[in-house]
Amino acid sequence: MKRTFMITILLCAVLQVFAQQKVIRLDTKDLSLIMTVTENNELLFQHFGNKITEDAPFIKKKSYRRADYGTDPQMYSTAGGRNFREPALRITHANGDLNTELIYIAHQQLTFKDKNVNQTVVKLKDKSNRLYVNLIFKTFQKENVITQNVEIKNEEDKEIVLHNYYSTYLPIKANGYYLNSFNGSWAREMFLEETKLTHGIKSIESKKNVRTTHTENPSFLLSLNAPLNENYGEVIAGALAWSGNYKLNFELDEFNVLNISAGINPYASQYHLKPHNIFFTPDMVLTYSNTGAGGASRNLHDWARNYQIYDPMTIRPTLLNSWEGAYFKFDEKTLTDMMDSAADMGLEMFVLDDGWFGNNYPRNGTSAGLGDWQVNKAKLPRGINYLANYAVKKGLKFGIWLEPEMVNPQSDIAKKHPDWIVKNRGGEATTMRQQWLLDLSNPQVQDFVFSVFDETMKLSPDISYIKWDANRHVEAPGSTFLSADKQSHFWIEYVRGLYKVYERIRQKYPKVIVQACSSGGGRVEYGALKYHQEIWTSDNTDVLSRVFIQYGTNLIYPALVSGSHVSAVPNHQTNLVTPLKFRFDMAMTGRLGMELQPKDMSTHDQEFAKMAIANYKQIRDIVMYGDLYRINSPYDGTGFYSLMYADKKKKRAVVFGFCINYQGRTLTPKFRLNGLDPNKNYRLKELNVTKSNFWGDEETFSGKYLINEGINPQLQKVFDSGVYSIEEIEDGKPSKNNEDPCDAEGK
Ligand code: DGJ
Repeated sequence: MKRTFMITILLCAVLQVFAQQKVIRLDTKDLSLIMTVTENNELLFQHFGNKITEDAPFIKKKSYRRADYGTDPQMYSTAGGRNFREPALRITHANGDLNTELIYIAHQQLTFKDKNVNQTVVKLKDKSNRLYVNLIFKTFQKENVITQNVEIKNEEDKEIVLHNYYSTYLPIKANGYYLNSFNGSWAREMFLEETKLTHGIKSIESKKNVRTTHTENPSFLLSLNAPLNENYGEVIAGALAWSGNYKLNFELDEFNVLNISAGINPYASQYHLKPHNIFFTPDMVLTYSNTGAGGASRNLHDWARNYQIYDPMTIRPTLLNSWEGAYFKFDEKTLTDMMDSAADMGLEMFVLDDGWFGNNYPRNGTSAGLGDWQVNKAKLPRGINYLANYAVKKGLKFGIWLEPEMVNPQSDIAKKHPDWIVKNRGGEATTMRQQWLLDLSNPQVQDFVFSVFDETMKLSPDISYIKWDANRHVEAPGSTFLSADKQSHFWIEYVRGLYKVYERIRQKYPKVIVQACSSGGGRVEYGALKYHQEIWTSDNTDVLSRVFIQYGTNLIYPALVSGSHVSAVPNHQTNLVTPLKFRFDMAMTGRLGMELQPKDMSTHDQEFAKMAIANYKQIRDIVMYGDLYRINSPYDGTGFYSLMYADKKKKRAVVFGFCINYQGRTLTPKFRLNGLDPNKNYRLKELNVTKSNFWGDEETFSGKYLINEGINPQLQKVFDSGVYSIEEIEDGKPSKNNEDPCDAEGK
């Protein structure tokens, strides 16, 4: 009797396989994300990867999955019902119900004006409660990118509590999963780590809310079936566009399905959603490549430059930043001398860093003055306008440093507004770098932060660039502004407050270049990049560290945004002494700048700098807007780091090669230049040398040769490096269409 009962239960479980009745497909040029609606109106995930055009098999497909082991892979998984995995959505409903089971109501698809972007909204409703969820997908055809965000609408009688509210959920099936993610800390950000996922959950997260990307980054490259390869294999890559706490979960279950949920970190962030209100999650950006990491990076870079990064077409100027050259110790003359040298070397902007403000509490170090944004009269008696004018007369743009979200306890502003400081309720605020964080959930603080930017811009009409720093994260969270029962909203309201300020700034100052600095490497994510032209990639300017930091950063974020500076030796962070050429060659793989005291440079070094800066101006459009082809990873054990940027028409390219380990004099590199056109001919020219020792300098090669055989410059000693410009040749002359796209646009 007992046995028959068990068999009946088993049969019921197996038979609970639903027939699919409808297919919803999101297609890009090469990819499909396919979901189905079952006859019971469940929305199931079916496929994300190479394009599949037919619907029929997805209608017929059966999963054979036993329902009592958990539901079939949902498109947006919820807590309750038969889901036992980390839910994308977890809610306590108005009546105390802990279950949410979403059913399909309808979906709409529309195409945006530029025809490249389609939007699909899938409308879902909870089976028992008046809770509505819209899954919103945008597909970017050419870029092969899909973004997802979610709207959660409460139509219940009372407030509901959101516990988990991730932006995306993706249950993937492969034979093995190799997660490539980033780790580090201040001054060693974005180090790549590959983990073969085993059963259970691996999460990437931040609970710091500010400077969230020092230790981990809200992005990943997931290689399917085999370890990550640059040119081969299937890779799913993702990045969250959110400047606060995040969590990305990779849960490998008993079906060997990898359930990915990603979005705002639920940590201490229960959100009370009032009736008739909607909660919007940030965008999760996803792509898939069957040409390894290279294809995935190029998709993300294209999408970011076309749709996310602020003001992508403005060429980011080369610059001299005052920080490592002068720190807090300067007067007018120090700065104008630096500007003279910057102009002489051919740089295009001077940025005055920390230390220019505070009078009652002068900012002569990290302990005082932060928050008092009045020009320090002792150091700069003629004010900012005098300096900015001086720069402009020298043919330079002028930029200035701000850290508007923070204050020193030793400042007029901190003494005037103790209620603006983030601190645990009833407790003392903790200091970090001797500073406190302002509570951006408070609209008064938002007004103040906006006014800091606005008033600084008013100091001179010649300010073209703001370096927006943020040198601490959240500790002992708490807001005086938010009520006791809304303290868990703090993390989200802080970021929303920050975005409100960014919006106001962008309305009033659409052209000014704003760098997301955040202690270097602290806000490297696509939420911040919607408002910023660039990031300060790391406070570590040491070139060997930068090889790893920039390699990691540019796996997800394009070189257009990564500030990369030549600094003095011994390096201030690592003590390492490296050749100036190596430092320039490496800095030229991003947005080139300098950060040192030019008067400490020899005439010879200044001449070299002049040459390298002039060369950079010739190739930077390819670095900023071209396709990135990585040749040697600094992790691959060859001792080389090498990469190539090629313009979209494959007419021009620039190759960088670095020897980072002793080669034993017997080994030479073989840089195969994937990404060129096999049917074109190219002329190669070595840059940043007065005389090249590479036999291929000024030689013409077929694309086939460069792709299949590659180049073998002599880079044998540690810190040997080379930069090679490559240009299409037609009838022995440079091709007619090789003009710089930036010149063509008058930039
Ligand atoms: C941290 C930044 O990343 C540095 O570049 C510099 O601006 C300092 N802060 C100034 O305090």
